[in-house]
Amino acid sequence: MSTLVLVGAQWGDEGKGKIVDCLAEAADMVVRYQGGANAGHTVVVKGREYKLHLVPSGLLNHKVCVIGNGVVVDPAQLLSEMDRLAAEGFDVGRLYLSDCAHVILPYHKRLDAVEEDRRGDRKIGTTGRGIGPAYRDKFSRTGIRMADLLDAAVFREQLAAHLEQVNTFLERVYDQEPLHFAEVLESYIGYAERLRPHVTDTSLLVNRAIDAGQRVLFEGAQGTLLDIDHGTYPYVTSSSPTAGGACIGAGVGPTRIGRVIGVAKAYATRVGDGPFPTEIEGAEGDWLRERGREYGTTTGRPRRCGWLDLVALRYAARVNGLSGLALTKLDTLGGLDRVRVCVAYECDGRRLEEWPHNTALLARCRPVYVDLPGWSEDVGGVRRLEDLPVAARDYVTFVEEHAGLSMSIISVGPDRDQTILRGSLF
Ligand code: GDP
Ligand code: IMO
Ligand code: MG
Repeated sequence: MSTLVLVGAQWGDEGKGKIVDCLAEAADMVVRYQGGANAGHTVVVKGREYKLHLVPSGLLNHKVCVIGNGVVVDPAQLLSEMDRLAAEGFDVGRLYLSDCAHVILPYHKRLDAVEEDRRGDRKIGTTGRGIGPAYRDKFSRTGIRMADLLDAAVFREQLAAHLEQVNTFLERVYDQEPLHFAEVLESYIGYAERLRPHVTDTSLLVNRAIDAGQRVLFEGAQGTLLDIDHGTYPYVTSSSPTAGGACIGAGVGPTRIGRVIGVAKAYATRVGDGPFPTEIEGAEGDWLRERGREYGTTTGRPRRCGWLDLVALRYAARVNGLSGLALTKLDTLGGLDRVRVCVAYECDGRRLEEWPHNTALLARCRPVYVDLPGWSEDVGGVRRLEDLPVAARDYVTFVEEHAGLSMSIISVGPDRDQTILRGSLF
């Protein structure tokens, strides 16, 4: 089967955009299946940087792109992204949007902000894109889907009912200004008209492409440890970035998934709150942040930096059923005397080899490190595994052995070309 799911194996920002862009060359279709504009996927083509939030990264490769039913769509954000891409000569006519995708409304973003504010010390550190409140509406069966938005009469009725409820909440509980029905209605009817040509039954589209033997690439957003079920709950996002989410969020059956590739940085980062066992505090962490330019693509926040965590990676391999790994940012580690890798945790006097689900316990876990020799050479120009410095190659082998995964791709720089590909993936 010529289908491939690409998932984040850590806390997001692993370099999924770059890897999707590399693989998309060989694909016919690229499909986003969950999340929303909380994602920020960076693709660098010949030195030019593109930041994509909702549009699948495959559009830069001129492929058919799909935003599946599992995505929560902010129409204004999507249209501005499409306009920017169209102005640069990309064909946005190849972009399709599921009629079942839920719509982000202005009150979702307002609620995201006020709820975070109310959490105080226990804040999640969300991106403020309305993701949690939009998925909450979806699961409480009060959401508005693209198909509803396209039907003006239905949308008007649903919006009126919703706003009445939400405004009561905003005013009485959060002491906030209410939203104006006429303003929201008018702007959203405008978005609907512009998006109408792109909205379709994308499950049908994707399944027909698979039937026709086309190569379909599923682009995950966020990462395994931010998954609503498998992540560091409650410090997670509100969707299922793990591989199973691709089936639900694109409307394809599990029998139609060929391979699953996890993307992990050669170290670890996390943006937002929540436990992060291998976090490096102080100068070394700051060095890694500056060297790796670790600032959020969506919010610009500094990312917390740490060493590669193999307990977490083995967990990601298990819950996603990974067939292989794409290791990114190997170049960033160059220049260190030694590189640390976490192989187990120590907690309450016990050694843990497996990822614990108890978030409070995870926060008490101390990493057990193995120190490996560093390398000083710049690996950005390397295109074959055998041309890497011995210490960098040994690092890769160590990760493969301890994660029980083979390395399908090694990325040595942000550009499309700065990639070591080990055979064809489709
Ligand atoms: P995503 O959300 O998983 O797509 O990742 P982001 O785009 O948010 O963050 C990854 C960052 O690392 C981006 O700025 C990429 O351009 C950059 N990047 C990706 N791969 C590499 C690599 O191998 N080396 C370096 N130096 N940068 C990379
Ligand atoms: P990409 O696709 C990194 C984090 C937020 C916060 C938590 C919940 O670029 O890898 P949300 O706004 O989703 O309710 O925030 O999830 N988060 C991400 N972190 N990369 C992302 O996406 C993220 N999307 C959400 O920082 O901790
Ligand atoms: Mg990102």
